Amino acid sequence: MPTVNSRFSVLSPDFAADPYPYFAGLREYAPVHYESGIDSYFLSRRHDVLRVLTDHETFSTEMLQVRAEPVMRGRVLAQMTGAEHTAKRKIVVRGFTGQALQDLIPAIRTNAAELLAPFLPRGRMDLVNDFGKPLAVLVTLDVLGLDRRDWRQIAAWHSGVAEFITAITLTPERRAHCLDCAEQLEAYLVPVIEQRRRRPGDDLISRLCTAEFDGVAMSNRDVTALIVNVLAAATEPADKTLALLFKHLIDHPEQLAEVRRDPSLLPAAIAETLRYTPPVQLIPRQAESDTEFAGTTVPAGATLFCMIGSANRDPEAFTAPDTFDIHRPDLGTARSFTAAAQHLAFGTGLHQCVGAAFARAEIETVAAMLLPLLDQVRFSPGSAYRESGLYTRGPASLCLDFTPVDGGAARP
Ligand code: HEM
Repeated sequence: MPTVNSRFSVLSPDFAADPYPYFAGLREYAPVHYESGIDSYFLSRRHDVLRVLTDHETFSTEMLQVRAEPVMRGRVLAQMTGAEHTAKRKIVVRGFTGQALQDLIPAIRTNAAELLAPFLPRGRMDLVNDFGKPLAVLVTLDVLGLDRRDWRQIAAWHSGVAEFITAITLTPERRAHCLDCAEQLEAYLVPVIEQRRRRPGDDLISRLCTAEFDGVAMSNRDVTALIVNVLAAATEPADKTLALLFKHLIDHPEQLAEVRRDPSLLPAAIAETLRYTPPVQLIPRQAESDTEFAGTTVPAGATLFCMIGSANRDPEAFTAPDTFDIHRPDLGTARSFTAAAQHLAFGTGLHQCVGAAFARAEIETVAAMLLPLLDQVRFSPGSAYRESGLYTRGPASLCLDFTPVDGGAARP
């Protein structure tokens, strides 16, 4: 276990390369780590993280005005409270659950089969860049009702938006690039919004356009912000989770063999992946009053980061927390995708993820397709595994070799 001493920094290259070995030391010796370079506090104990995410009076999302609003072009769900939050969240939830979700499954399969077809006869694929990333964007565009032919352009703008929100520090050049992406994305979305106001369809954008609050429809800016909110929230964590699931299963061949034999274990494997390596590593909040954690006072107005990767490995909640085990009894598969989840990969409290059920269905559907197709799946020789990201984290690529099959084998 690397030591956590007074020189420890979450901004160090060693922590960026692999934060997991540091978490036990942080929980024990620096549970409220102050990072002076960015004037922020990092909380690593699960019960402190739970407290921050559930006490909405003391810990607000005010800092998103600076961290997100410039690229979201307006206020996102995480900034809202009360009746406004409930009403707008309900519209988004409806697009990703119940019958809407069931109707989306065939489209997920078709998208996945199309993306897989060229790689199956080659017996080699980058699960992140060839498959997971485009799939997550295409599926989200289907839900929103955006033209899938524009996916590359939308994905490029979206990555600028995501960089702005998730970068711990940004150079002026990168900041300008991110803002430019956001402006172009807004310019692309406004005519779509206006068209849906005139001729609403069955998609999420139409539902956002036709919804009224106290008899008033949302402005183009309000709708744009919620579209960008969904785009940013739904894509990156889902593709990272799929890649991490395959990484962990290949690293644990006996568990991979079990899941192959019994695909009903997939939800447990996905839940354990989310606990073991949550793709959203940091959730920010602002302290509204002076607050004490483990003997340290965090002053009013300070930015706090909840370290989800550490909270999910806190021995207070999980035995042998650094072991990947799809059978762990202390997780509970069914509740792992609900408000009662033991892991905190979807956050908790008022702003807990609205896409948890959808993410489960999406990842389970494509993993169930991939497993029988990728026979003898293994890391491609010579490819180095590397994760990146402090805020959201996952493999930059995951090159896999497998027994080649006909491209049509993926057809649903
Ligand atoms: C494995 C996949 C996913 C993970 C790990 C994940 C994680 C999270 C986390 C940690 C939060 C809480 C943020 C906070 O408290 O500030 C959140 C919120 C949110 N997520 Fe997800 N997410 C995933 C997939 C999705 C999908 C597929 C959607 C599609 C709708 C989505 C939409 C949202 C939205 C709209 C919020 C904000 C909710 C609110 O503020 O009320 N997420 N997500």
